[in-house]
Amino acid sequence: MIKFITVGDVLPLRNEVLREGKLTLNECRFPNDDDEGAFHLGYYKDEELACIASFHPMGYEGFEGKAYQLRGMATTEKDRGKGFGNMLVNFAITYLRGQKVNYIWCNARKKAVPFYLGVGFEIISPEFKVPGIGPHHVMYVKIQ
Ligand SMILES: CC(C)(COP(=O)(O)OP(=O)(O)OC[C@H]1O[C@@H](n2cnc3c(N)ncnc32)[C@H](O)[C@@H]1OP(=O)(O)O)[C@@H](O)C(=O)NCCC(=O)NCCS
Repeated sequence: MIKFITVGDVLPLRNEVLREGKLTLNECRFPNDDDEGAFHLGYYKDEELACIASFHPMGYEGFEGKAYQLRGMATTEKDRGKGFGNMLVNFAITYLRGQKVNYIWCNARKKAVPFYLGVGFEIISPEFKVPGIGPHHVMYVKIQ
């Protein structure tokens, strides 16, 4: 089941999956987590949080219209490949389309590019490195 959750709910999984559990929960916060219009989604398998993603109102230069940035996409290791991430992003696309949002973009880790391609994103930047994390591409999906 997919739910709107708080930033406090996402931080432990963000740390575990995206920061190798090395940071404090506060260090896992993104600057835009509490912006007006920002929201966080969780996929619960029974009572357990299995997958998270956060969405912040933010445009990408050169693209017109109302936009959101997707950040902090993570599925617990044991629950990957079950379609939870796909369902979460598709939920967000449907929700944001209802909010008259035009596109979603993200900085995608190279390893996650096939996942984002699978939910309709396309690559819009050359590869770039994020220090300490690795190669990325900017990806984008037009939703209306
Ligand atoms: C990227 C990530 C969030 C994807 O989440 P997920 O819940 O595993 O995503 P899905 O299960 O929807 O899709 C993953 C793969 O499983 C496959 N899959 C989906 N449903 C499936 C099913 N029912 N049975 C078998 N395979 C399935 C998909 O085809 C997809 O293949 P791909 O690797 O070619 O994209 C997850 O791998 C992750 O947390 N990775 C580490 C952190 C990370 O890199 N985050 C992204 C930062 S930009």
